Amino acid sequence: MPAMYEDLQIISYPDPRLKKPSAPVNAVDDSLKELVARMLQLMREHHGVGLAAPQVGQNIRLFVMNHSGDPKDDRVYINPELTEAEGAEDAEEGCLSLPGINANVVRDKTLRMRAVDLDGRSIDQKETGYIARVWQHEFDHLNGTLIIDRMGAVAKMAARKKLRELEEAYEAAHPRPPKPKLLRRK
Ligand code: NI
Repeated sequence: MPAMYEDLQIISYPDPRLKKPSAPVNAVDDSLKELVARMLQLMREHHGVGLAAPQVGQNIRLFVMNHSGDPKDDRVYINPELTEAEGAEDAEEGCLSLPGINANVVRDKTLRMRAVDLDGRSIDQKETGYIARVWQHEFDHLNGTLIIDRMGAVAKMAARKKLRELEEAYEAAHPRPPKPKLLRRK
């Protein structure tokens, strides 16, 4: 794995890269395969069910998931499109970029997914329930949407302390340059 990807880490709220809409993937090449390998590794290390490229600071339309924990269930979706939404379901979700926060989110129950896999082949799948929920959570990341953007006002109030802690940790790690002193007019 090139050094370019082996140092990638999962970024947390409020890193601005999580809010940025991602651009389509142009080519499924070796570099993309190495990125996916690192994302799968990080997802496993952090016991996640899914991980989207923006969560490792790469604003491209790609995510990985594994709903069972068995490596043969690894799934890679490139340039995903979700259609044919049916039904609605409310359930709790977490996010590797929002450690310590869980939120109930209403999602479509059934969806059709069209995407490209890591071999460049077309994917056309239909899922109901948990996998469809993971699809929607990860797809949201590609559009800069986090679960806190889908939380109700009450849930957001409850998470406020934890969000503030994450904001403070980010500010401590990314100090802002001092403001230029205003020149006093004579
Ligand atoms: Ni997430």
